[in-house]
Amino acid sequence: MAIHKILFASLLICLLIQSIHGATKERVLGDLYKGALDVTTKNRDGVLDAGKDKVTITWKLSATGSEHESEFKTIKVKLCYAPPSQVDRPWRKTHPELFKDKTCKHKIVAKSYDNNTHSIDYTLERDIPTGIYFVRAYAVNETGHEVAYGQSTDDAKKTNLFSVQAISGRHASLDIASACFSVFSVVSLIFFFINEKRKAKLEQRR
Ligand SMILES: *[C@@H]1O[C@H](CO)[C@@H](O)[C@H](O)[C@H]1NC(C)=O
Ligand SMILES: *[C@@H]1O[C@H](CO)[C@@H](O)[C@H](O)[C@H]1NC(C)=O
Repeated sequence: MAIHKILFASLLICLLIQSIHGATKERVLGDLYKGALDVTTKNRDGVLDAGKDKVTITWKLSATGSEHESEFKTIKVKLCYAPPSQVDRPWRKTHPELFKDKTCKHKIVAKSYDNNTHSIDYTLERDIPTGIYFVRAYAVNETGHEVAYGQSTDDAKKTNLFSVQAISGRHASLDIASACFSVFSVVSLIFFFINEKRKAKLEQRR
């Protein structure tokens, strides 16, 4: 009997979570005002090095954007995968629903909105994987919903892309070493706990 109640309660909780989620669920990129922000990027020629090279990113309100400007609260600038970097990589896939979309996973900056032209020199972060990228800026409203966007490429995401090369072997092996260390520390913590418990049991028996 009790187990039935627990199952029923968890089902209710799941449904509740689903319905809360549903409120933002259907929000798709196509719902946003496209091209409300003019976004441009400038970088040196050739393949850029993560952790070293810079991209100059500029954004400002576009002519069509000014109609919706009153809704803008924050501008979120993100680094996004261009289609060639998404092939066979479901973890980078573009989904029309914003909450599922994995195109723009790397945050660059978030700033409160004003109608000035903004320009930043963004140093590509060390953990940026090798890939072909563009930049997209979302305008977010007071309740935290994306309402408009602009990007540094065309609709087909073919123009003005830039290539980034992940940090080279030496650093990669350092990263692997640190990952191993953290796994090791978790394992030793577990070991420590088990050992303590065992000791406690032995003590009780005495
Ligand atoms: C930008 O905003 C300020 C006040 O917030 C306003 O006075 C100014 O006219 C605006 N400029 C443009 C180009 O919309
Ligand atoms: C923000 O945008 C969402 C989606 O369009 C809308 O439902 C919400 O009412 C907006 N919030 C404000 C304060 O305008």
